[in-house]
Amino acid sequence: MREASSGGSKAVGFGIEALPRIVRGEGSYLFDERGRRYLDGSGGPAAFSIGHGQREVNAAIAAQLERVACGYRYLFTSDALEQLTALVLRLAGEDFEHVVYTSSGSEAVESAMKIALQYFDACGAPERRHFIARERSYHGNTLGALSLSGFAERRRPFEGSLLDVSFVSAANDYRPPAGIAPADRIDHWAAELDARIRAIGPERVAAFVFEPVVGAAGGAVPAPPGYAAAVAAVCRRHGVLVIADEVMCGAGRCGTWRALAADGVVPDVMAVAKGLAGGYIPLGATLLRREIGARILASHGAFMTGHTYSGHTAACAAALAVQRLIERDGLIGRVRERGPRLLATLREQLEPLAAVGDVRGRGYLIGIELVRDRATKTPFEPQRAVAQAVARHAFEHGLIVYPCSGNAGEGRGDTLIVAPPYNASDAELEELVDKLSASLAATLAPSPRRG
Ligand SMILES: Cc1ncc(COP(=O)(O)O)c(C=O)c1O
Repeated sequence: MREASSGGSKAVGFGIEALPRIVRGEGSYLFDERGRRYLDGSGGPAAFSIGHGQREVNAAIAAQLERVACGYRYLFTSDALEQLTALVLRLAGEDFEHVVYTSSGSEAVESAMKIALQYFDACGAPERRHFIARERSYHGNTLGALSLSGFAERRRPFEGSLLDVSFVSAANDYRPPAGIAPADRIDHWAAELDARIRAIGPERVAAFVFEPVVGAAGGAVPAPPGYAAAVAAVCRRHGVLVIADEVMCGAGRCGTWRALAADGVVPDVMAVAKGLAGGYIPLGATLLRREIGARILASHGAFMTGHTYSGHTAACAAALAVQRLIERDGLIGRVRERGPRLLATLREQLEPLAAVGDVRGRGYLIGIELVRDRATKTPFEPQRAVAQAVARHAFEHGLIVYPCSGNAGEGRGDTLIVAPPYNASDAELEELVDKLSASLAATLAPSPRRG
């Protein structure tokens, strides 16, 4: 059997020998060539914000292609690019003034890193080269973004060629630091970051990078209340930039356009991607706070990051149509309102299952952590690949969820991410919960005794 050609592997395909051939998408459902229907309960990898086959998005892309696919950014501007930029800046809030486009989340993070470095060069502080990130994080697959990622399994084959990044603890209330009272955790994490910056030397640190809600590396772990504000205050005290990686959690997925808006924090630089164009055409973006962009432009005249297809016209037209649909239909409000209900329903239905250790999340980015022993939070043995097994069972029964592993460290830990399209109907959300409960029960319950 040949491997899937899209860079896929058996692990990506949950160990399924032959991946089904996709032929169609409609709303929250995907269909394969055998006519089997799959409810996209995780928007693929938390990417497909408005489901599939939306006619008006397809029409907007077709109309753009009819006129011109791409005006090269050094030669032309375009309506799609300018209108998208204006919309994104309005949605992100008044502190942001500049957008650098990319074709993926990794590139958006990579651009965020380069912008931080360019900013300090422009400020006459070129010795600020060092990045601090967090354990149990994922920021992308390019070497720079991977260097920031506290994700041992994805880093291992590339160790030795990655940048020298410092890691501080993940902020996870389900797996908290030992010996710290719950009320003291925020201070503990802030003090750890402060101590790390001081140990490196503040004059050498460019930026602290974090996911406001950790995606694949943690299994949808929202920062505890107060965390983002506390670490941002530490950074500001030391002149260190705050980079928010909102590739997965941003663009409305958590119920606000910027995930960090819920924490009352404005980062200096922010990466978005997945939900921005909702998978219709690849697109990422890096947003800069006004002062950051102004300083760079005053000194260097341009942001020195970009690619041939940065600001690709048809990709911008796709994102513009996606974002307009989200705004017109009030879908972020829908996520904000329905997200807590979906979380509560999942808790209610899943927590009776002994292997469900934690159900957490924000908006439509929800993580279910599976454990061998709920009292001690002991993970399953990695060889059992429990999350993959549940996701495979669900897939075979017409539900897509996103399995992640390794969140508990040393290759252990099993989580499932639920991230439905923002416009999934109530009936589809019910189907999601029912199918997921059934797959968890079927995969994890002890087999019935024969006799
Ligand atoms: C938080 C985060 N950052 C960056 C990336 C990389 O994005 P991409 O896969 O589009 O390069 C991902 C992908 O899952 C992500 O979840």
